[in-house]
Amino acid sequence: MLSPTINDALNKQINEELFSAYLYLAMSAKADNMGLSGFANWFKFQYQEELAHADRFFNYILERGGDVALDAIGKPEVGDPSPLELFEKGLAHENHITHCIFKLKDLAKSESDHATDVLLDWFVNEQVEEEASTQAIIDQLRLVKDNPSGLFLIDRQLADRKPESESEA
Ligand SMILES: [Fe+2]
Ligand SMILES: [Fe+2]
Repeated sequence: MLSPTINDALNKQINEELFSAYLYLAMSAKADNMGLSGFANWFKFQYQEELAHADRFFNYILERGGDVALDAIGKPEVGDPSPLELFEKGLAHENHITHCIFKLKDLAKSESDHATDVLLDWFVNEQVEEEASTQAIIDQLRLVKDNPSGLFLIDRQLADRKPESESEA
């Protein structure tokens, strides 16, 4: 059985993950409008991953006999960014999510909720990967600066991103 405090915190994290999905979906549209279909593809997969994260918390709450309470999802503000700024915004957001996961870990530990603590370990590792993969793209974009050929090459590379289930097969 989940404590009401943990149940509430996990519901808030579902909302954080759904907002993340929404943000990446908006970024995908922005990239598509810039003619960067590879970038758009990358953000679309990111969107799907965030939906899967929300689903993981959703299923866990129910499995532990808790109550799922879905809240309104905030409006993602993307503005009019350069490709580099899009990814910088993505990284800043992932840093925020990592902070949320760490706070959840602290809470689970303080309540000796070992099951939730173990669930969160997966997310701790996932955040390390997400920050690293976003940082790697930022590094490449900083390297090519405004060079169109460089941007084109990165776009082609990001077009190859497949869902994890396919790339593992
Ligand atoms: Fe996530
Ligand atoms: Fe993420």
